[in-house]
Amino acid sequence: MSHYWRLDDGRQTLVLATKDELLPQVVYWGKPLPKSDPSTNLAEAHQKDFTGGMLDKNPNLSLCPEANQTFPGQPGLRCRDTKGSPIHPKFQFLSATENTNDLILTYQDKRLGITYQAHFMLSPQTGIITTWASLSSTRPIWLQWLAAPVFPAPQYSSDMLDVSGRWLGEFQINRVPWSAGMHLRESRTGRSGHEHFPGLIIPEYGASNMEGQAYGFHYGWSGGHKMIAEELPDGRRQIQFGNATDSELEPGLQFETAKLYIVFSDQGLNGCAVAFQRHLRDRIIIFPKASVPRPVHYNCWEAIYFNHDISVLKQIATKAKSLGAERFVLDDGWFGKRDNDTTSLGDWQIDVRKYPTGLGPIVDHVKALNMQFGLWIEPEMVSPDSELYNTHPDWVLGPKDQLLGRQQMALNLSLQEVSDYLFMCIAALLNDYDITYIKWDHNRVLPISDVSQTRKVYELLARVRTKFPHVEIETCASGGGRIDFGILNYTQRVWLSDSNDAVERSKIQHNAALFLPSAVTGSHVGPRQCHTTGRIFDMKYRAWIAAQRHMGFEMDPREITDLDAQILLDVTQWYKDNRNWLMKADILRLDSSDPSVIAEMQLAQDGSRFVIFKNQIETSAQINPRPLRLAQLDPEASYLIRLINRDQIHNLSRGNPVLKNQKLQMSGTWLMAHGINLPYALPSSIWVVEGHKL
Ligand code: DGJ
Repeated sequence: MSHYWRLDDGRQTLVLATKDELLPQVVYWGKPLPKSDPSTNLAEAHQKDFTGGMLDKNPNLSLCPEANQTFPGQPGLRCRDTKGSPIHPKFQFLSATENTNDLILTYQDKRLGITYQAHFMLSPQTGIITTWASLSSTRPIWLQWLAAPVFPAPQYSSDMLDVSGRWLGEFQINRVPWSAGMHLRESRTGRSGHEHFPGLIIPEYGASNMEGQAYGFHYGWSGGHKMIAEELPDGRRQIQFGNATDSELEPGLQFETAKLYIVFSDQGLNGCAVAFQRHLRDRIIIFPKASVPRPVHYNCWEAIYFNHDISVLKQIATKAKSLGAERFVLDDGWFGKRDNDTTSLGDWQIDVRKYPTGLGPIVDHVKALNMQFGLWIEPEMVSPDSELYNTHPDWVLGPKDQLLGRQQMALNLSLQEVSDYLFMCIAALLNDYDITYIKWDHNRVLPISDVSQTRKVYELLARVRTKFPHVEIETCASGGGRIDFGILNYTQRVWLSDSNDAVERSKIQHNAALFLPSAVTGSHVGPRQCHTTGRIFDMKYRAWIAAQRHMGFEMDPREITDLDAQILLDVTQWYKDNRNWLMKADILRLDSSDPSVIAEMQLAQDGSRFVIFKNQIETSAQINPRPLRLAQLDPEASYLIRLINRDQIHNLSRGNPVLKNQKLQMSGTWLMAHGINLPYALPSSIWVVEGHKL
C-alpha cells in the first residue's frame, strides 16, 4: 500500500511518500505547493530513471536509509547486538499519528523487535520544522549511529555552507563544493565545539544573503555530533545529523537523537537566519521574565582576571554603573585558592583570603547601585590541584592518565553523587546571596565522547532552573565552544567568543546571526587595546559593535577617559532606548558589494522601523564607497532614513552624499534596488542609519 504525508505552513511544503510498506522518503520540500498537486502524483513524478550499471530500481533515500536496501551511501542506522554482530533491520510501516502540524511515523522490524520512529513538528509562526528519530528494541543493542530523519539536499546547488572555528575565531563560514562522496563533520570532543558548530546551509544556484532559495539545518545537541552531506553515486544528495558515532557507551533498549531544526527559504540565507533566530528566541529559550529588557552587562574578567580585591571591585562596579551597566558579573577567581587557572576548580567555597566575610560586601555594593549580581562558575570541571580531586579522584571522567586541558579535568556527571555535589554547591551560593545570573563555563574538551555526560549536564541545568527559576544562565565554553539549541533550552545567553577585538567580534556575530538572535548573543566593549589581538580601536567603534547585540562592557572602566566615558554612555543610552524592539528584531545580513564592508539591518518584526550598521572593517579596494541595498522592506511604502552618527564624518569625506547632511525619504523599492550612499569611511568605523516607515 502507498502512504503519503504532507506538512504545509504557507512558506514551505514537505511531502513524504512511500509506494509500499517501507520507510518513506522526502519527495518534495520547498516552495508551498498548491493543494491541487495530489501526493500520489508527487510521489510518481519524483521517480528517476536508471540505466546500465545500476540496480533495477533506485533504492529509497528514506528517512533512515537502510543498508539492506542496497542504499549506495551512508546508512541512517548502525547498530550491533550485544555479541558485536551487526544488525540490519528492515522496517515496515506500523502506524502514523497525524495532526495539522505534527506527524509521528512508526516503523518496525518485528523479527528483530526493533521499532523506529520519526517525529516532525512544524512551527508555522517561525517556519522551523523540528524533527528527530527514536529507536527502541526488545533486546539490548549497541547503537553506533542513528541519524535524525534524513533529508535530501537540493540538486540545484553547487556548494554548501558549513561552520568551523576556533578559540577567538568562532563561526567561520566555509563554502564547500558538492562533489562525489561524503563531506563529514564530526565533533568528537564532547562539546558542540568551536570547531564544528552543528549547522549547515545549502544555498541553491545564485542564492545570496538576500535572494534565492536556501535550506537550513541545525542540530541541537551539546555533546558532539556528526554531520554527513553526501552526494550518492547516482547524483542524489543526502543530509544526516546525529550524535557523534559511538557516543552511546552502553547497550540499551531506547535511543533518541537530539532535535534537528530545518527550514526552507526563498528569501536567501536571511530566510533561514530569521527562522532560526525567531525559533530560538520565541520557542526555545525560557527567559525568567520575557518582558523585562535585556540588561546591560558589566563583566570584570578582562579588567582584573584572578586579582580580586573588594575595594577595587567596588570602584569598578560604581564606575560601570555610571556608564550605564545594569548587571555586574563577577568572573573567575573568587573561590578556592584560584589565583590562576592551575587550581581549585571543584572547590566552590569562597576564597576568604580575597573575601574575608564572603561575597556579601561586593553583592551588597552592587545591589545598592541598583544592579543585578551575576557569578561565574565552571561546575563540570575539577583541577587536579584541588580539595575535591584529593578527596574524590574517582569522580573524574575518562582515564587517569588523560591529557589535561587548561590544567583541568572533567567530572563524571553520570555518577549521581557528582551531580548532587554540584547541585548542592550551586544551590548554596544561590541561597546565600542575591544572585540572579550565572555565567556557566566549560573550558576544556572531554576526554571521551559520551552522550550520558551531556544528558546529565542538561539534567543538572534543569534542576538549577527548576529550583531557581529567576536565575538566568549564560552558556560559555572558552567563548563559543558550546552554543547550540540543545543547551539553549536551559540557558538564556551565549558568550559568543573570548575575542573582544571589535573587528573580529563583528565578523563572528555577523555569521552567528545565521542562527542566533540579538537577544541571546552577548557582545562586550573590551579594553582600548584588545587583550587577545593587541589591536587598538576607538571607543566609538567598540561601543557600536557591542550595541548590535546584547550589550555589555568588559574593560577596566576606571581607565577610560572622560571623552570615551561620554561616548560609551551615549551609545549605551541608544541601546537602552531601542532594545525593546531591537531584541525582538530580525537580523538581516545585507549583501555587500564591497568585501571590506560587513553590513546588517535589524528590522522590527512589524516592519515599522529598522537600523542599519555599515561596518568598514578595512580599507576598500575602490576609492568611493559603494551603495548599500536594503532588504525585506515594503516596496510600496516610503521610509524616512537618517544617519545618526554624523559626528564620525571624517574630513576626508569632501562630497555631499545626501545622508551626510539631511534625512532621506525614499520608497522601499528604491532602497532595495538602488541602495543608499554613505560618506567615505575610515577603516574600523561604522555608520549607523535609522529608518522609519511613514
Ligand atoms: C573562559 C571564558 O570564555 C572567559 O570569558 C572567562 O570567563 C574565563 N574562561 C575565566 O576563566
